[in-house]
Amino acid sequence: MKTYLVTGGAGFIGANFVHYMLDKYPDIKLINLDKLTYAGNLENLKEVEDNKNYSFVQGDICDKEVVEKIFKDNEIDYVVNFAAESHVDRSIKEPEIFVKTNVLGTVNLLNVAKNAWETKDGFKEGKKFMQVSTDEVYGSLGDTGYFLETTPLDPHSPYSASKTGSDLMVKAYFDTFKMPVNTTRCSNNYGPYQFPEKLIPLLINNCLIHKDLPVYGDGMNIRDWLYVEDHCKAIDMVINGGRVGEVYNVGGHNERTNMQIIKTVISYLSETVDSAITEKLITYVEDRKGHDKRYGIDPAKIKDELGWYPETTFEVGIKKTIKWNLDNKVWMDNITSGEYQNYYNTMYEK
Ligand code: NAD
Ligand code: TYD
Repeated sequence: MKTYLVTGGAGFIGANFVHYMLDKYPDIKLINLDKLTYAGNLENLKEVEDNKNYSFVQGDICDKEVVEKIFKDNEIDYVVNFAAESHVDRSIKEPEIFVKTNVLGTVNLLNVAKNAWETKDGFKEGKKFMQVSTDEVYGSLGDTGYFLETTPLDPHSPYSASKTGSDLMVKAYFDTFKMPVNTTRCSNNYGPYQFPEKLIPLLINNCLIHKDLPVYGDGMNIRDWLYVEDHCKAIDMVINGGRVGEVYNVGGHNERTNMQIIKTVISYLSETVDSAITEKLITYVEDRKGHDKRYGIDPAKIKDELGWYPETTFEVGIKKTIKWNLDNKVWMDNITSGEYQNYYNTMYEK
């Protein structure tokens, strides 16, 4: 019976991963360590609360005592590190917390795991530290080409710079100590439980309340979208089959301009929910500072080595995501009526 320490499991991708793993493996133990920042929400985990294989610890990945106690009380086999500050716009306003959680928090996890797993002859068998990273560490692409694992790291935002810092610390623990690690670098995710500060759930929510849809710049920036479950599948495959020390890019060749995404969401909601949801809601706002133009992943390595492929097309995934949001309006209302609403209102102040 393998024991997973998942950090940030109350956030968007972390929660999807917790569900994915507990559904797929009836014989694992999964401990979720989450600080419950504004982005962490135990509502995302209601269905697994009573699962005997699951437990929750509220705590900070930067807190050595908390992490040490988890390792002391449990024989941890895998650390899967999702915990992070994850929103680029916030990182432009408040970079310090990004360095603290994303860099120092990751180093703390690495250190405690290393102390628990290291023996005089190397590392105990079957252990792995899995760092969940992003394609944003590679910077921005022009009109052609894709990010490969060998693409030089060239982050631009404080968010991507902090993720690059953590990736490099993970690499350093492999290079220096031969600690068993893997890193995945995935493109933009979408799906259930995504916090409505990110483009797709923000659009869905704003459409439903007939609020303006803020488009940064000309709306022609390109992101490469992947349904969250396909990301979870990739992480599981890398944990179980990835070559130690390797980085794996994850993406499904699903590039769209932001304007294409906006029009898709409007058209679907207009047809299925309310014909008053129209392109009149589109509002051009000041561009994001340092806005990366284009992301695009080449997933050949994870496909060739591990047989990963995306199962959900964008057309299917976006409908599932919108439907999930329509079926879970209370979830959205609970989030958008509290502190987040105050934060959102200050987002576009000049
Ligand atoms: P999220 O913001 O939805 O969730 C982050 C979670 O981490 C929250 O539950 C939060 O409470 C928790 N957390 C934050 N600081 C913490 C701390 N100090 N200690 C413990 N827990 C803490 O983020 P997400 O979108 O689910 O992203 C998860 C991970 O995946 C991040 O590392 C992110 O960089 C990476 N990633 C995200 C995307 C994407 O499109 N969202 C794409 C590629 C990689
Ligand atoms: P986001 O979801 O914040 O992800 P990331 O910046 O990490 O890729 O943004 C996705 C794209 O959508 C990005 O090009 C910025 C743009 N965007 C808007 O145009 N308006 C918005 O309100 C938001 C949140 C994002």
